[in-house]
Amino acid sequence: MCGIVGYIGKADAPTVLMNGLRRLEYRGYDSAGIAILDDERVLIAKAPGKVSKLNERAHADWPSSLFQRASTGIAHTRWATHGPPTEVNAHPHLDQSGEIALVHNGIIENYRSIRARLEAKGHHFYSETDTEVLTHLIGDCDKGDLFQAVCDALHQVEGTFGIAVISAREPDKIITARRGSPIVIGVGEGETILASDASAIVAYTQRVIYLDDNDIAIITKDSIDIRDLNNIPVTREIAELAFDAAAAEKGGFDHFMLKEIHEQPESLGNAIRGRLDFNLGSSVLAGMGTSPRDLAELSRIVLVGCGTSLHAGMVGEYAFEDLADVHAEVQQAAEFRYRNPILGSRDMVVAISQSGETADTLAAVREANQKGAFVMSLCNVVGSTIARETGRGVYLHAGPEISVASTKAFTCQVVVLLMMALRLGRGRRFSRDEGIRFAREIESIPMLVAKVVAQNARIAEVAADYAKNEHAFFIGRGPMFPVALEGALKLKEVSYIHAEGYHAAELKHGPIALLEQGTPIIALAVDIPGKDKMLGNIEECRARGARILGVITEGDHETAECMDDFISIPRCHPLVATIPAVVALQLFAYHVARLRGCEIDQPRNLAKSVTVE
Ligand code: G6P
Repeated sequence: MCGIVGYIGKADAPTVLMNGLRRLEYRGYDSAGIAILDDERVLIAKAPGKVSKLNERAHADWPSSLFQRASTGIAHTRWATHGPPTEVNAHPHLDQSGEIALVHNGIIENYRSIRARLEAKGHHFYSETDTEVLTHLIGDCDKGDLFQAVCDALHQVEGTFGIAVISAREPDKIITARRGSPIVIGVGEGETILASDASAIVAYTQRVIYLDDNDIAIITKDSIDIRDLNNIPVTREIAELAFDAAAAEKGGFDHFMLKEIHEQPESLGNAIRGRLDFNLGSSVLAGMGTSPRDLAELSRIVLVGCGTSLHAGMVGEYAFEDLADVHAEVQQAAEFRYRNPILGSRDMVVAISQSGETADTLAAVREANQKGAFVMSLCNVVGSTIARETGRGVYLHAGPEISVASTKAFTCQVVVLLMMALRLGRGRRFSRDEGIRFAREIESIPMLVAKVVAQNARIAEVAADYAKNEHAFFIGRGPMFPVALEGALKLKEVSYIHAEGYHAAELKHGPIALLEQGTPIIALAVDIPGKDKMLGNIEECRARGARILGVITEGDHETAECMDDFISIPRCHPLVATIPAVVALQLFAYHVARLRGCEIDQPRNLAKSVTVE
């Protein structure tokens, strides 16, 4: 979603800010803007569309000497919420005096009443945004001390914010603050850079400070002074970023999505490394913070997440019930707190989130904490809000995921859930030998995935036959049902083909009415319990003219014969098979989208991290 960068330092601020914005492009946005302090004035450039367009605009509007001399500025990529993605609605916004500029992530919920109050005092607004209202409010509160003005304004707003503010009247500083939207500050030598996401910072420094909710910081080129909104100093540790700039580059691949699909043998290896115990036949997940007794006493596991993370949770649901004999259920994070969930201390709530910033998942965590459940998280981004608020959990170690469509984070989420299920299973039902056998299955996952990735060229050929369709159905049963949902999600996200995932048995309760000659059915027909029923469902579709692309088990010739086309995955445990199967569908979606000429890494309207409800 929206992205923030701020810089105060030696010089070259416009270039540093543009580079930062490019690093944030992956988050999804539809307009961009930049504000620079120069000679006691604020200069602004904005453009709808891409950062490259903003860069052209800034170079056309500003003298080239400005690019060398300006040392302070803020910049933004906007994902439209209040008002369309026009130049006028793009950030930064200016206050009434034109001397204070602000960029903002999040939503100011009470902006209408504040706007009415300020209009009554003579303020004029040019945009439809809540952000412009906040900027005017800060200007209205400014009696000669920008920091105090920002504090006073933030006391009056309801909602969420990550902000960066500059003022021509106090050119030696940037004020930044957060509530609900992340801000990370990079600590440089004679320069300080802030952003909503560490990927905009990593090219400049590995040393960062994460702000907590209600922190406000005064940043100069040599200092970072953090306080709370009541002006009481607070201490925040400096952390080292766990990735370097190269991790956020395409590394020879045409798209981040393809790179990240190919990285999966490695990322899965990182997620697994040091976490399997072949002596005990269990897994070691220290961050869970649970003793065997805690686990034995659990009565229920509730998995919450959104989008792809929700689908990972659905695989987890099968794993916990099958391996650990514990009641498990998945709930959409967006609904969780509104349905007044029944939770107690023997319920474990597992929040699953690649970014660790998804607003609905964070709200679910807070609700579960209120209700006294045992809450933990599975996040990829180290130090993210959900990871910090849960306090216990397991990091995925997938490395930075740049493509909006999630691939390696999904497979790492599933593998971590399998390891959690193994640990629970060992305490409740598994013998040591059974535990060791399943640990061996998990250990083999990177190799299984490498075999699927090696079929990239063949999957590209198969995809060519499906790229002209406008509809597709993905069907599966058992643990392959969530894989069908995820396969359909991948295809619609990147290729804009209307794709639906269904339980294979549900198809005949309505969707089968849509089948016509040649309608594609992507069938997860892997050789696992229930395959015979799956083959029956496939025949029902074939009888109505559907074209069947099967994901099948290597060497299963009988099943191959039921298909028009097939992609095979290695034989393995049914739960483990979800991972190579989904990788086949990721590659299928990628190649279909590529053939259709889609913007694969930043699909229209989508955001990498959804920080509004
Ligand atoms: C967005 C992304 C999806 C992601 C979902 C949840 O919609 O585009 O790829 O699955 O958010 O994100 P999270 O970071 O919580 O896993």
